[in-house]
Amino acid sequence: MAENQDLYKKAAAEQAVEYVEDGMVLGLGSGTTVYWLLKRLGELVDQGLNIKGIPSSLRTEGWAKEFGIPLTDFSEVEMLDLAIDGADEIDPDFQLTKGGGGSLVREKLVNAHAKRVIIIADGSKMVDRLGKFPLPVEVLQFAWQRTADKIAALGATPVLREREGEVFVSNNGNYILDCAFGSIENPRALHSELKLLLGVVETGLFIDMTDKVILAGPDGAQVIN
Ligand code: 5RP
Repeated sequence: MAENQDLYKKAAAEQAVEYVEDGMVLGLGSGTTVYWLLKRLGELVDQGLNIKGIPSSLRTEGWAKEFGIPLTDFSEVEMLDLAIDGADEIDPDFQLTKGGGGSLVREKLVNAHAKRVIIIADGSKMVDRLGKFPLPVEVLQFAWQRTADKIAALGATPVLREREGEVFVSNNGNYILDCAFGSIENPRALHSELKLLLGVVETGLFIDMTDKVILAGPDGAQVIN
């Protein structure tokens, strides 16, 4: 299953490359699906494709450099032509949960400053309702326990993210609380409530930020508009 899932991620990523045009400045998302995108873009750059990218995480930056993709940043670019990113959950209205890899703040900034956003994923990410995947919320380190209390009062069970026995620190120097809300009835309202809490930097709910989804499964990659 894991092996197939990786093949599906690769298929979705390679389909997304069809939307990349010469001269574009791209938002480069984060995650293992985006890895395949970067690999393919690197091959095309080798063959002469002229693009630049703004990476949404240090991990993406590392992969992009490894694959020879020229990079730029927001000191040089006002608006990206296209951002391509992964997701943890996608609902039928294209509202997303993201942040499984801990890059949600930079991903949201990159995607918010792109003319179009394409989300690439294997079919398992499509859900009827968001919430099975615990919602990542980036919070300040300072008083994170009290921020967690406030989030808990909204009906979640926040868990401080750890990786390999260490507290996970985001690329922005913050903590991530993985907040199991169960089924999220109104993602927009929940995002707004969370954003009002002192200590919350950003939520992993990406509301109205997706133009196109490319999902891949046993029957290949499918574009959903
Ligand atoms: C990272 C993200 C990723 O896009 C999301 O976790 C999907 O990752 P993958 O492609 O590895 O399944 O939001 O913060």
